[in-house]
Amino acid sequence: MTEVDAIILGAGAAGLFAGIEAARRGRRVLVVDHAKAAGEKIRISGGGRCNFTNLDIRAERFLSRNPHFALSALKRYTQWDFIARLDAAGIAWHEKTLGQLFCDGSATQIVQMLTRHLAQAGGMLWLGTELGAVTRDGPGFRVETARGAVMAQSVVVATGGKSIPKMGATGYGYRIAESFGLGLEETRPALVPLTLAAQELERTKLLSGTAVTGSASHGRTRFDEAVLFTHRGLSGPAILQISSYWREGDAITLDLAGGQDAGAVLRAQRQSGGRIALRTALARVVPEKLARYLEEASGLTGNLADQPNAALDHLAALVHAHRITPVGSEGYRTAEVTLGGVSTDMLDARTMEAKAVPGLYFIGEVVDVTGWLGGYNFQWAWSSGWAAGQVI
Ligand code: FDA
Repeated sequence: MTEVDAIILGAGAAGLFAGIEAARRGRRVLVVDHAKAAGEKIRISGGGRCNFTNLDIRAERFLSRNPHFALSALKRYTQWDFIARLDAAGIAWHEKTLGQLFCDGSATQIVQMLTRHLAQAGGMLWLGTELGAVTRDGPGFRVETARGAVMAQSVVVATGGKSIPKMGATGYGYRIAESFGLGLEETRPALVPLTLAAQELERTKLLSGTAVTGSASHGRTRFDEAVLFTHRGLSGPAILQISSYWREGDAITLDLAGGQDAGAVLRAQRQSGGRIALRTALARVVPEKLARYLEEASGLTGNLADQPNAALDHLAALVHAHRITPVGSEGYRTAEVTLGGVSTDMLDARTMEAKAVPGLYFIGEVVDVTGWLGGYNFQWAWSSGWAAGQVI
């Protein structure tokens, strides 16, 4: 039987960070994961360069039943603190766009930094180790693992969400929460491509691979980023972002014009002769394949010179306010994150400890805190991991 002060379930971003912090305080820490390697999602994130934080962290960029819950941890361990840690480790980084920070080299540098810091602080790491039940044992807990039972004063659940089961994601953390009577917010895939019905796909199939700078909106929420048509439906950063807000049955509105005024461009072309096909005129605003698709969708015939103002308005609306109703999403198979999770009502915002179960903590993605695309989710993992690491 192994005895430690704190056992951390999951060696992802949040778990490694909590482990480092607690071990640096002199606590006996054990981090356990069933995967063969630690920090696998860090390694593959950001196209292999890890978008590890964002310069512009704000509460409204996190989805949660209580969006203010995350603020305490995010303010106590900020993006600047994490940047300082990378600087101290000699890991070079750059801002790509919209405040998003990436490693110059490779995401593996971050994984190596974290596992090195954990080892240097004296924390233990058991990889390839299945986890079983977590039960109360006197003032502490007993955790069953494939390497035998572990007794610990504190248990930190950092097993992430359900996204990408192929990479070892399980619903384990939610089950532990339920076994201690803690409430959950409904989970669903987020930051995920959206799918279109077969009939719609038939119309858009020629567009597969076409990307435009534009925007996607749902209600009052709008993201000005790229939209990509795929053989399954829609993807690209604007779509991944809006997927966190979209619900089945809802339409989303796309602006496909990349900042141009389609109406003005069409009128100007009509004025200067206009004996060109509508698709040719539209191709000044959007890629050629998309121009052809929009012409067909408009139901208009004839060339540009034949079109009255109302027809041009109709075309411009198709470009700027293109309504489309996805039928679903690609699901957890490709979702970057899981929306929902352990209810923030159940947790102390300062420490991440379950209010009703002293000694039990939840950090990272397993909690009902989900960031936008752009480094927000890793910052939540660092900040919530740090918060728990100060007290376990
Ligand atoms: P995480 O999922 O990282 O770690 C959980 C750990 O628990 C895993 O190691 C897993 O093996 C282990 N585990 C799960 N169940 C277990 C069980 N039953 N027994 C034992 N161990 C178990 N975010 C961002 O901010 N910037 C980015 O660039 C990206 N890019 C990105 C790309 C892709 C493809 C994905 C899928 C996700 C991202 N993300 C991201 C999101 C980011 O990866 C995510 O928010 C964090 O990894 C969450 O960190 P956690 O430590 O909470 O969970």
